[in-house]
Amino acid sequence: MDWGMKNRLSKIIKAKDNRTLMLAVDHGYFMGPTTGLEQMDKSIVPLMPYADTLMLTRGALRNYIPPESETPIVLRVSGGTSILNENLLHEGIIASMEEAVRLNVAGVAFSILVGASFERDTLLAFTEIVDEAESLGIPVVAVTAVGKDMVRDARYMSLASRMAAELGAHIVKTYYVEGFENVVDTCPVPVVIAGGKKIEELECLKMAYNALEAGAVGVDMGRNIFQAENPIAMIQAVRSIVHEKATPEEAYQLLSKKRGKWSR
Ligand code: R5P
Repeated sequence: MDWGMKNRLSKIIKAKDNRTLMLAVDHGYFMGPTTGLEQMDKSIVPLMPYADTLMLTRGALRNYIPPESETPIVLRVSGGTSILNENLLHEGIIASMEEAVRLNVAGVAFSILVGASFERDTLLAFTEIVDEAESLGIPVVAVTAVGKDMVRDARYMSLASRMAAELGAHIVKTYYVEGFENVVDTCPVPVVIAGGKKIEELECLKMAYNALEAGAVGVDMGRNIFQAENPIAMIQAVRSIVHEKATPEEAYQLLSKKRGKWSR
């Protein structure tokens, strides 16, 4: 691995504790004006000081994020289908690696859909991105998306995560499931979890904690942060679990203390 690749990876996964809090705000690429992301300059920019990276599309980056921001960027480079499409997640390349370099990103993210009839399309497009990204020293985050009819369990997540790593992913993003140790233990690259749909805050903090205990290096979380009653307090609570070894209960106490101090 060359210096550039290592340097960019260290902007995503922090060397001091080998952990990361990635803030995922890319939902508009298939969901349009998602709750909490309607005006990202107002809702997301204030969260950036607490995030290790911001994951989003080039359009959101250009239109909402000040170029002088210091938070490293992970650029979504797959997409092409909307939430209205029955083949949601039959994604292709939506931004070139030249564009990724122009935007000075720390990494790129690409969704693969293992088990769908169109899995081959997403997997081959993914490897095209990996080849180009490798030549430029840019890490690729494989987002192991789950189709509507697929079971989210450790067997499926292990399959998708290991395949992503075998095909060249530098980081794998997946979902927390029971038996998550097996997903992490059989994946040779760092694993982060998505948050998924908004759930109760303590439940979300427990999920993040359990994922880290099972060996994940962090979270790439969106809705459970930016749709929280108090997003600034919530991101700090998640951060305390990721970087400060807080228990879910301690993180929840922190959240309760800060609740009301900041509002959206
Ligand atoms: C989905 O494919 C997007 O990449 C989201 O960024 C991802 O699902 C993480 O966001 P959330 O925590 O809201 O699930």
